[in-house]
Amino acid sequence: MRNIIGIKEMSKKEIIEILDTAKKLDCMNENKRRKLMDGKIITSIFFEPSTRTRLSFTSAAYKLGCHVLGFDNPNMSSVVKGESLRDTIIMVSAYSDVIVMRHYIDGAAKFAEEVTSLPIINAGDGANEHPSQTLLDLYTIREELGNIENKKIAFIGDLKYGRTVHSLSNALKMFNGEFYFIAPESIQIPNHILKELDKAKIKYHLLDDYKNILKDIDCLYMTRIQRERFDNINEYEKVKHAFRISKKDIEGKCNENMIIMHPLPRVDEINIDLDNAKYAKYFIQAKNGVPIRMAMLSLASGIIKSNAKKKKTDYQIIENKNIVCQNKKCVTHFEETKNKAIKKDYGNFCYYCNKEIK
Ligand code: NCD
Repeated sequence: MRNIIGIKEMSKKEIIEILDTAKKLDCMNENKRRKLMDGKIITSIFFEPSTRTRLSFTSAAYKLGCHVLGFDNPNMSSVVKGESLRDTIIMVSAYSDVIVMRHYIDGAAKFAEEVTSLPIINAGDGANEHPSQTLLDLYTIREELGNIENKKIAFIGDLKYGRTVHSLSNALKMFNGEFYFIAPESIQIPNHILKELDKAKIKYHLLDDYKNILKDIDCLYMTRIQRERFDNINEYEKVKHAFRISKKDIEGKCNENMIIMHPLPRVDEINIDLDNAKYAKYFIQAKNGVPIRMAMLSLASGIIKSNAKKKKTDYQIIENKNIVCQNKKCVTHFEETKNKAIKKDYGNFCYYCNKEIK
């Protein structure tokens, strides 16, 4: 394992290996653990706001004995002088051993992988993927529900722009779950995700309310309506309060073992009166980011050797100058990329941002 760009590129064995490594590292003697990556340098470059992801990567790095450099405010870097992402990545590669990057552009991580030989970890690229969040989500499901197989999960909120949901549903389809996508029509789950689920023969339901399915589900995965990703603010205004759950909506109405998760930050979609309810696992979930990111850093850097089988590619990559991604937020419109697409039997998809190319 070297680069961790998207869940779509990982095998189930690689995912399980990260979860198991996280558990081991979490239980390891602190002094021994601090020697694992002693003196290695992690560069953390964040072009988009973050609290949990950045701080837990940093905490994970310190616990492994690494030094951390980087920026969390691109306005204080040469990006404001007009430096390209390509050049930024090339430069950062000269100063460190592993790069952790969050970017607001879809496909930025896949592009970065092409311009550096250092291990690169995607800490979220636009509305595309967020693999480290998914791994900590899976870790939480396993810790709290005993295993990940055959779970019934309801995703609620901004399913169009929510990269955590995109990555998590891509992962959970390897564990034979059943999904409920609950959102207003304008922010429902993108078609390219549904096509992947169809291909994997996963059962799913598209709904606009959660009330009737509360008794059936194992996990309610709540998400924030992501104001910053809407092109039209009026569209955001229409859906911003689509779902707000509180104790009275949940207690006595759900399966008693159900858990509530949320990648956080929350705005008003989960009332604080639920925080002390036995169902609420979102703060534990965020805490699980530290062991998961320790595992990611040590496996990506090769300090811990990966033995897991890689994913078999079931697609072909095509390259020609007529391939143009229609997603205006895709990295292909901002950097000098190649004209590449992934050809599958149910359509062609952008190599960088995964959106369907018509
Ligand atoms: C999420 C993200 O950045 O995609 N947050 C996180 O990393 N924990 C979700 C969000 O911002 O709503």
